Amino acid sequence: MDDEHSRNHLIKSFNNQFGREPMALAHAHGRANLIGEHTDYNDGLVLPCLISNRTEVALAIRDDDLVCGISNQFLTGHKAIYDGLDGHWLDFVIGALHQLLPVGGRLQGIDIAVKSDIPPSAGVSSSAALEIAILRALVTAQQLPSVTDTQLALFAQRIEHDFIGTQCGIMDQMVVAAATPGDCMMLDCRSLDYKLMSLPAGHVVAVVHSGSVRKLSDTVYNQRLAECAAAAQILGVSSLRDATTGMFGNVVLDNEMKRAKHVVSENVRVQAAVNCLLRNDPSGLGNLMNKSHDSLCDDYEVSSPELDRLVSSLRSAGALGARLTGAGFGGCVVALCETASANDIVSRAVEMNPDSYLIDFIDN
Ligand code: GLA
Repeated sequence: MDDEHSRNHLIKSFNNQFGREPMALAHAHGRANLIGEHTDYNDGLVLPCLISNRTEVALAIRDDDLVCGISNQFLTGHKAIYDGLDGHWLDFVIGALHQLLPVGGRLQGIDIAVKSDIPPSAGVSSSAALEIAILRALVTAQQLPSVTDTQLALFAQRIEHDFIGTQCGIMDQMVVAAATPGDCMMLDCRSLDYKLMSLPAGHVVAVVHSGSVRKLSDTVYNQRLAECAAAAQILGVSSLRDATTGMFGNVVLDNEMKRAKHVVSENVRVQAAVNCLLRNDPSGLGNLMNKSHDSLCDDYEVSSPELDRLVSSLRSAGALGARLTGAGFGGCVVALCETASANDIVSRAVEMNPDSYLIDFIDN
């Protein structure tokens, strides 16, 4: 469905459900991370890109305090703004209303229709896309002064922290708020400075779903975060961004130090990957992606048998590099492929892993 057709379809659904026109429309894309995994909440470096899959929202303000929503992916529902959080997707809307209070937003009832082709729980930031799209539409509907992309990203991250319960870093929300599909964003998660870059010429990134959704991710995610904080304390640095490989010399590699080793080496790999993009070196980039996956598997321990199998099938089918993307424990894999052989490579890997399927090809 093209963009205009899809928008009209959303407006029609809104109309059918709520009997009126929406006051604001907005959309945001999902993301796949090329390299730089589990570094963002350690003040580190990341290199994510947007995928073409996106979430669209249509909304209007109500004159009571109910939030009523329909979605093509989740159950229709309603709740009052002041009801407690209960894991319903409308908590994202309530979270967004609260985040916008400091810039003049109001706690008002909302009718909302959501349409998305970003698979949930797949490690491609369906949540960040929903947050950014809702925030953008609310800024329009509540006629707020314009908000920068970085501010939007920080509001969206606070929705996750305060209303959803994941203590995520800033990578997903920043790239979703500030990039356009096809861009790679080199983001320094400490300063929030970023640079948009292009993929190597003649190459695409295949985003392939392993067929298994992320499991246990919130619990293990928050546990990894705590292990990194503990490792930073042992190494005497304020965050693992300031740790260096030399510091591991005399320290036994227990779990905390293994996590730290991944983070420190991953930051170095992101810098090297940026150099590969600058000098158009796809095989260098592919190697770094492979090393990143191995480190996530052995030292960070967030891979799964399904992800490992798919990664090795993509490599053996001819990808220059393949790795899990996102938090891990299931979800998607990214593979760097020559454009001319990308279809072939993915078809062969999918044949070897019958539950897997292609989500998107990212190209410039
Ligand atoms: C999830 C989080 C991000 C990031 C990745 C792992 O996607 O939302 O902030 O930590 O996991 O790199």
